[in-house]
Amino acid sequence: MINDDQSQTNGDDITIPGAPGVEPASLEEPTSPRPPLPPKPDQSAPVIGTATGKRLDAEPDARAQASTYLTTSQGVRMPDTDHSLKAGPRGPVLIQDHHLREKITHFDHERIPERVVHARGTGAHGVFRSYGTAANISRAAFLAADAETEVFVRFSTVVGFRGSPDAVRDTRGFAVKFYTDEGNFDLVGNNMPVFFIQDAIKFPDVGHAAKPEPAREIPQAQSAHDTFWDFVSLHTEAQHHVMWQMSDRGIPRSYRMMEGFGIHTFRLVDIDGKTTLVKFHWKPKLGAHSLIWEEAQMVNGADPDYHRRDLYDAIESGAFPEYELGIQTFPDTEDQMFEGIDLLDPTKIVPEELAPVQPIGLLTLNAAPTNFFAEVEQVAFHPGHLVPGIDVTNDPLLQGRLFSYIDTQITRLGGPNFAQIPVNRPHVETNDMLRDGLHQHAVHAGNAPYKPNSIDGGCPFMIGAAGEGAYVEVPEAVHGDKVRESPATFEDHFSQARLFWRSMTRVEQAHIINAYTFELGKCYEKGVKERQLVALANIDAKLCASVAAGLGLHVPDPTVSITDAAPSPALSQLGKSWPVDGRVVGIIVDENTDLSELEAVRHAIDEQGMLPLVIAATGGELVGTDGTAISVQRSLLTAKSVEFDAVIFGGAPPVPGPAPTFSSASVDAKVAAGETAKPGAGSGIDPRVRMLFDEAFRHAKVIGAWGDGIQVLDGVTGPGIVTTEGSTEVVTELVPLLAEHRVWKRLRAPGVTVA
Ligand code: HEM
Repeated sequence: MINDDQSQTNGDDITIPGAPGVEPASLEEPTSPRPPLPPKPDQSAPVIGTATGKRLDAEPDARAQASTYLTTSQGVRMPDTDHSLKAGPRGPVLIQDHHLREKITHFDHERIPERVVHARGTGAHGVFRSYGTAANISRAAFLAADAETEVFVRFSTVVGFRGSPDAVRDTRGFAVKFYTDEGNFDLVGNNMPVFFIQDAIKFPDVGHAAKPEPAREIPQAQSAHDTFWDFVSLHTEAQHHVMWQMSDRGIPRSYRMMEGFGIHTFRLVDIDGKTTLVKFHWKPKLGAHSLIWEEAQMVNGADPDYHRRDLYDAIESGAFPEYELGIQTFPDTEDQMFEGIDLLDPTKIVPEELAPVQPIGLLTLNAAPTNFFAEVEQVAFHPGHLVPGIDVTNDPLLQGRLFSYIDTQITRLGGPNFAQIPVNRPHVETNDMLRDGLHQHAVHAGNAPYKPNSIDGGCPFMIGAAGEGAYVEVPEAVHGDKVRESPATFEDHFSQARLFWRSMTRVEQAHIINAYTFELGKCYEKGVKERQLVALANIDAKLCASVAAGLGLHVPDPTVSITDAAPSPALSQLGKSWPVDGRVVGIIVDENTDLSELEAVRHAIDEQGMLPLVIAATGGELVGTDGTAISVQRSLLTAKSVEFDAVIFGGAPPVPGPAPTFSSASVDAKVAAGETAKPGAGSGIDPRVRMLFDEAFRHAKVIGAWGDGIQVLDGVTGPGIVTTEGSTEVVTELVPLLAEHRVWKRLRAPGVTVA
């Protein structure tokens, strides 16, 4: 197994993503001076332009460090960065050491405040191609037929801190910055089409309730605690969003497999000023899929960066995530209602069956950032970044957002000039007359940054309302008394939560019951649990009774009369087939696995656009008799079932014998207990392999086996378990099963629990 010349595998024609650098690291510290290495091919960076939007003709890495030799920030070459300047080798450090002080001072200030919400995120570059199908209702240039627009996308969780794990139960942010020819347009949405509150004035309340409790600052990145449930059970307009969060949508499998929603109703404006109300939807080409709760909890321990890694690995291996942008359209009537649904209420959806989602363009994410901090951490989205042809409505949640984002970014990004940070710069020229302030990157010329002026020749000039690219707000009539009130139509808090519940399949409903029971089960206050049960009674009697049974509490009566809306099958994630691009398949092998068969399986997986990862007893390489070598990506110590969408057993690694030297296996209790823990046909097989099988089975994953690998199955058969004589046939049979995401039938089988 051990091959000292592992360079052989560098010629592997299947890209295994995740290597940190563009070249393999050498064993010895390199000492021959050479310029900095270029970025990896899967990376991109904000376009090169000045702080005022002028495009420059420069290489994408023009902003990267360039000197072959270490310098200070002033460009002075330093011969030594390992030792402070001291009065003799054993003497005190001299305050004169400017290099020490600059290095430490900069390090001391490397962290900036994290976002107050959505702190944990992941971003990527891409391109949006418009189909032109919205061009008849919006004059936005980027929605014209075949227009291509560069974009930057940031996905996020809401509640957790910046270092929190990815696979927590939470809402996900889905923020897209379109660098259009008419300025930047930001679509700052979530993966759920509704929000907890109807009025932005409640945002600090829901934020304080959901974040870790202030006394002990726990729990991290969870809604499973008293203050969250205290708030949402009292402020019942949150119940619809809570239902989404308790559903499988709260634990997406991947950012690549997540829908996005603009939530609010926006207003599109055509070339003649005619308006149409719309709701924006992002539909992933791979379909919307989720983790199972037990799997999510394991993921957070095994790989807290699960969603971030998944996104970047997919991009690096060429499985570019794609999402279709769609709109639901509604006539811009005076009452702004559609089929009895108030379009200004952000706690309501319009079912797709009533207003179909019409595709208007395709977003493709094709490059990872070059520098995470510079791009993903410093990107600043704002729902008020609009372009001609797109306007807001009076949704009171959206109205408050229009104030909040710039305000918070002034603190987070250290002053008012964050629009000049490369990732935030528009890709068109600007002349905003904004001046000075912290971190001013532009060197503005002229002497008259005010209007009107004659000193600077009158520049900048006003385009005029009819001019090309002019942003003109829709002249909507405003009337009424000044009041702190919501419209009466905002008072229905339960009917759409019920609509969602009734649209779910049995498996999905079972997951929702378990999620409520888990989350409320983590609360200490009985009164809070009882109050939330009343909210559930107002949604559905069976849901309420099931959760109450799990909590060991009485079933309360509803306090409102329950109204039924027709279910919306489009809300369920089950029942269709989807492309398998970027799915991760683990192949478990042992010493006897035929390497030519393994190679054929790897290529069969790769040809389907999926990622094959080889799992063996130890790391290193598998070397055939002819000297060919196949890299091992995971050992039995580093592999976890939750990393894989499907597992294939091409061997049955045995319980390791007594280790000749210290090894992880020799101190692993599972391995030590291996012979006795699992009596029957499975004995003799490394228990970590059995555990991998058991977990994959429990989480309804597709499982395949050929040759000796069939032994691992221990005679278990049933839906989603594929055994074949030959090796590559296993892949052929596995693909259509994987296209359904999970083996749902296994979860429905009698005696098998659904959670
Ligand atoms: C429909 C409701 C809302 C949605 C879909 C939404 C979505 C988002 C998203 C996706 C982000 C992360 C952006 C990024 O990745 O950088 C974000 C951040 C933020 N949101 Fe919202 N949000 C909503 C409501 C609100 C409200 C009502 C407020 C306050 C009035 C608010 C204040 C903020 C703030 C302060 C940030 C941090 C921004 C930053 O530091 O750059 N959000 N929101």
